[in-house]
Amino acid sequence: MAKAKTQFICQNCGTVHTRWAGKCDGCGGWNTIVEEDPMGGIGSGPGKVPKKGRPVTLTSLSGEIEEAPRIPTGMDELDRATGGGFVRGSAVLIGGDPGIGKSTLLMQAAAALSRKGHRVIYVSGEEAVAQVRLRAQRLHAAETDVLLAAETNVEDILATISEGKRPDLVIIDSIQTLWSDTADSAPGTVTQVRTGVQAMIRFAKQTGATMVLVGHVTKDGQIAGPRVVEHMVDAVLYFEGDRGHHYRILRTVKNRFGPTDEIGVFEMSDKGLREVANPSELFLGERNAKAPGAAVFAGMEGTRPVLVEVQALVAQTALGTPRRAVVGWDSSRLAMILAVLEAHCGVRLGQHDVYLNVAGGYRISEPAADMAIASALVSSLAGLALPADCVYFGEVSLSGAVRPVAHTAQRLKEAEKLGFSSAVLPAASPELPKGAMGRWSEIESLPDLVARIAG
Ligand code: TYD
Ligand code: MG
Repeated sequence: MAKAKTQFICQNCGTVHTRWAGKCDGCGGWNTIVEEDPMGGIGSGPGKVPKKGRPVTLTSLSGEIEEAPRIPTGMDELDRATGGGFVRGSAVLIGGDPGIGKSTLLMQAAAALSRKGHRVIYVSGEEAVAQVRLRAQRLHAAETDVLLAAETNVEDILATISEGKRPDLVIIDSIQTLWSDTADSAPGTVTQVRTGVQAMIRFAKQTGATMVLVGHVTKDGQIAGPRVVEHMVDAVLYFEGDRGHHYRILRTVKNRFGPTDEIGVFEMSDKGLREVANPSELFLGERNAKAPGAAVFAGMEGTRPVLVEVQALVAQTALGTPRRAVVGWDSSRLAMILAVLEAHCGVRLGQHDVYLNVAGGYRISEPAADMAIASALVSSLAGLALPADCVYFGEVSLSGAVRPVAHTAQRLKEAEKLGFSSAVLPAASPELPKGAMGRWSEIESLPDLVARIAG
């Protein structure tokens, strides 16, 4: 008899190794590799008779298919992140740290859809039905017709959700609790999670129901993370936030039916998640404009402008190697800005610790924040507060030149709406609106900016 082939699969990123190793080459995680049987018993049994398909031309389809049919939840922030609502027949993965609020968000979405007459089934593998109901009560969702089931076996779940009228939306909370009779590995392993998710996706495609899959981000590699199924689903959303803050951000990282750069912003309260229509007001809420080292960045998230404060602290150190600590921004990007300040602007930071923080637990991913960061750093070093009514944006290149960024007009409009009256932005910015904001200073290079701030 042929020896059963097993594989060694990283539970964090899904990389397949031929032998066990302590460290995964794919993601660098330690102790994340587990031996699994990839076929898991599938494939034995009599051969299947192949079915002949019929390819169709693209033109014959024109007029037939307009837009992907969607079910909007009516929760604007959630609909924005999904691109206008859940697409029928699609599978959506919602990942996030344990305890961040995934179950809360989905219970609220389920209740909202149920109130609109949709049939929603919430399958919980983590909590008993009574516990789920308790949460629903707290969210004022208990009086809705959301159907609850506490199951973890894939075959049982399929039997449960296939019964009765076809559901519009099925929520599986979570994929890590799924286990199938057809896969031999232990529950929570990559093989089990993939087999379970595959079955759920097949159900969605066959019935036209939307499948929402919850996945916990795992750090220790004991159970498979959501990344191992990202390639299988139609859309991937991550629910992020800082435990110390109430804001939660739903970020789209993959979407076959919509944009990927949108975010939905929520605030966690004792009655569940509250939508935040204007995130800038929230992020600027705790602002202390008179302190040196703070600059307001006029950023963009997808189609929406977001203003947020960046805070820098530059302090003299006696240590041989000064510290650089960043929260909410890319640390290699900070290293670059520091290098440009040293090389082209004569700003000496070799004897200084540098701490950088983005207010409110928010994360900036745009290079357009370079100018705001540089301004905050120089302001802290010089001990001079920046003007309170000014916003900053622009990308800095290694040569010290400042480059224009997209959406100038929108950034300025949002800043004006929130009471700012001036802006520091790249020279030759396109689409500079006439008379939108009173004053703006066009900056050509980083040395220009430093001279402006430090006088
Ligand atoms: P939960 O949705 O269970 O997180 P996840 O499913 O991502 O693991 O949310 C857990 C946290 O949210 C928990 O610490 C309590 C808090 N919470 C509130 O603050 N208000 C609420 O109304 C609810 C339901 C939860
Ligand atoms: Mg949960």
